[in-house]
Amino acid sequence: MKEWDSFDQIKSAKGVWLVDSKGNKILDAVGSMWCNVWGHSNPELINAITTQSKKLQHSSMFNLTNEPAEKLAEYLVKISPKMNKVFYSDNGSSAMEIAIKLALQYWKNIGEKNKTRIATLENGYHGDTFGAMSVGYVPEFFGKFKKQLFTTLQFPVPNKYRIPKEFSFLDYQNQCIEKIEKEFSQKNNIAAFIMESGAQVAGGVIIYPKDFQRKISVLCKKYNVLFVLDEIATGFGRLGSMFQYEEQKSIPDIVAYGKMLTGGYLTLAATLANKKVYDSFLGEFNDWKHLFHGHTYTGNPIASSVALENLKMYKKYNLIKKIQKTSKVFEQHYQRISEIDIVGDIRHKGMLMGIELVSNKRKKTPITTKKSINKIFFEEGKKNGIYLRTLGNIVMLVPPLVITESELNLLLERTISTIESAKSKII
Ligand SMILES: Cc1ncc(COP(=O)(O)O)c(C=O)c1O
Repeated sequence: MKEWDSFDQIKSAKGVWLVDSKGNKILDAVGSMWCNVWGHSNPELINAITTQSKKLQHSSMFNLTNEPAEKLAEYLVKISPKMNKVFYSDNGSSAMEIAIKLALQYWKNIGEKNKTRIATLENGYHGDTFGAMSVGYVPEFFGKFKKQLFTTLQFPVPNKYRIPKEFSFLDYQNQCIEKIEKEFSQKNNIAAFIMESGAQVAGGVIIYPKDFQRKISVLCKKYNVLFVLDEIATGFGRLGSMFQYEEQKSIPDIVAYGKMLTGGYLTLAATLANKKVYDSFLGEFNDWKHLFHGHTYTGNPIASSVALENLKMYKKYNLIKKIQKTSKVFEQHYQRISEIDIVGDIRHKGMLMGIELVSNKRKKTPITTKKSINKIFFEEGKKNGIYLRTLGNIVMLVPPLVITESELNLLLERTISTIESAKSKII
């Protein structure tokens, strides 16, 4: 970390613009770490926070509840097809830990002691806690802890840009699904299949081809495996639909929400389960079927209030339609971005774009440097008035969902200039 000898301080923000302590206005291409919906300083969201903060700031969810948390749970169940119950936490990693515990304990609760293994996709990311690291193993992030992580069955993901030589893309997709089916048919100890919904984001913006997720959900039903989806980065409109599981026609047993749930203003996450899973936890006290899990700030009323306001605004302002329209602006820039000689691939859906940088276009060699690419892009981005962050060799564009067409055009122009100027620093 030595290369980060100082940090810019953000003093205020409005809309898609961050303002630092020197008064520089910087376009937020990271969307507050992929969670900002309505831009910064939105009056309706601020009002939800201030109104609730005068009534009740926090109270325990152990033996008690509070009105905003109840209302939000009701609303989440209403808008989440086939989901029945909500378990709160306060960050995405915890929501995934809860999903893992629910899935494993479900089988214990119904007397199937043998179902203890978890299946996942290679290169998935579900957070930085130990359970989440185990089910979302990205080698670069988690290699140092490999010995302490529990093992999972991992299956390949069809990434169109990097399919094995002997395959067509369609053949490779079929092979990926066949591998899962083969394993499911031979093993009867698989408790759950856990995957990001719609796309792998931190693992390099791998957008699943049509039907991939649906086919896995079908296999889960066929072989009696719980299907667990992580919508933390992709739900609530990031990929252009409210929930990817709905768009992909792949109903889960358990689903985790986070990030954009509060519009990016306060920390809250939720793990939803269907009735089948929930019912398995019902019993007399001495049956010990209940879930032992709870965080201090679970169901925080201020966070729940702002989340409810945020979600109601989706309908009020027809946000999903707006995202679908604005998202087309990305397409107008494909050509120019792909012509840059260090750009190997562009992957885009909704309000998410990953630009993969390579040192050799033909061989698709991922670009590497002595200095971190992230740092180079951060510095060059700053010169161009844009806050950019890369993950490995992927430039990530994840702006606030409400970004306007002209702001998005500006963001893409500045991204192009940044890649051009970073190029000389990298090669
Ligand atoms: C798909 C996915 N799941 C889980 C997480 C973890 O969420 P948090 O950072 O809130 O713990 C992330 C964070 O980026 C994510 O992208």
